[in-house]
Amino acid sequence: MAGLIDFISRKLFSTPEAIKEPDALRIGILGAASIAPAALINPARSHPGVVITAVAARDRTRADKFAKQHGIQKVYASYQELLDDPSIDAVYNPLPNGLHYEWTLKAIKAGKHVLLEKPSCNRAEETRRVFDYAKEKGVVVLEAFHYRFHPSAHRLRQIVSSGELGTIQSLKGALTLPRGIVGADDIRYNYSLGGGSLMDGGTYPVSFVRFLTFAEPVSITSAHARPAPDARVDVGTIATLAMPGDVSATIECDMALPPRFWIVPRMFDMGMTVKGDKGEATLFNFVLPMLYHYITVKTKDGKSRTEKVYVPPSTEGEWECWPKAEASWSTYRYQLEAFVDKIQGRKPHYWVEADDSVKQMEAIEQIYAKSGLGSRPASTFVL
Ligand SMILES: *[C@@H]1O[C@H](CO)[C@@H](O)[C@H](O)[C@H]1NC(C)=O
Repeated sequence: MAGLIDFISRKLFSTPEAIKEPDALRIGILGAASIAPAALINPARSHPGVVITAVAARDRTRADKFAKQHGIQKVYASYQELLDDPSIDAVYNPLPNGLHYEWTLKAIKAGKHVLLEKPSCNRAEETRRVFDYAKEKGVVVLEAFHYRFHPSAHRLRQIVSSGELGTIQSLKGALTLPRGIVGADDIRYNYSLGGGSLMDGGTYPVSFVRFLTFAEPVSITSAHARPAPDARVDVGTIATLAMPGDVSATIECDMALPPRFWIVPRMFDMGMTVKGDKGEATLFNFVLPMLYHYITVKTKDGKSRTEKVYVPPSTEGEWECWPKAEASWSTYRYQLEAFVDKIQGRKPHYWVEADDSVKQMEAIEQIYAKSGLGSRPASTFVL
């Protein structure tokens, strides 16, 4: 999946390498993760304020190969060695979920800013501690909810907030993958590493529901998990969240949807539909809108329209502080812009606040409690 995103991003949206500023932020990567090229390395090419200078992996050969492939100067055979390098300003943490807490704390201790893959930790309590510590140390930590930095997500929220759909009644969002993409031995099936579909794809619709409604679930009405061979891990989860004001939100995630009627392969579903008493709007592909997306709005007076929002649609109102983006910008490129702006003391066009990340993790834990699988294991790491 990550490889596919990267391939498409590079082929279709390759942007020229920017001339780097002398004070460009130096970022190191913890782990030779397959998501890193799409999520950081390629976006960094077109950003004048960022250079990717180092990668660390426990497997030296893997790290060397990764560095060579992506033109990264320094290679470390341990994460700690990278953190001990004083020339590195910030790190990207795409390690398995169960290691987010430990290595983010260690990075903060080393005085590094952290771009932290979602989910931020296994537990809300850990997320809270991470952000408290970051505040104490004066470093920036950002949970990498990249889709939220893209204008398409904000445009849907603007439509919802405008009242055009009337009073909001329900939302339905998904991130499901057909069987065959995530291998049976994938770490996402490993409970002790924080595995589970809700911890992976499921974070997106949960986060998007919270983003669109500016609210947290009042309770979880229902949650059903499709268990993996290790029954503590969900291959997929379907849940209904009771949002304030009698709004019902259904989220679905799955890492390996079986074919329908055994033969028809399922397609990717990465959509969100919001229904109100005066109409409905759908954002098709809110997760990777840079590849392709559209927003359809249908109102009960019979009107309908379609919008595509690759760049900020305006320079006024809430769009005023958005960067001058190019249509080639991926969600990750938009995110990197904000991450660098925040670290350099400029106002980012959007930000995922610490409290938002804590509440996101609370929602995930509540859904796991309702489905009966329970929260992922707490880290045993003590700083
Ligand atoms: C899960 O990951 C841990 C840590 O890497 C490993 O020790 C364990 O064997 C893995 N479990 C499975 C079922 O693969």
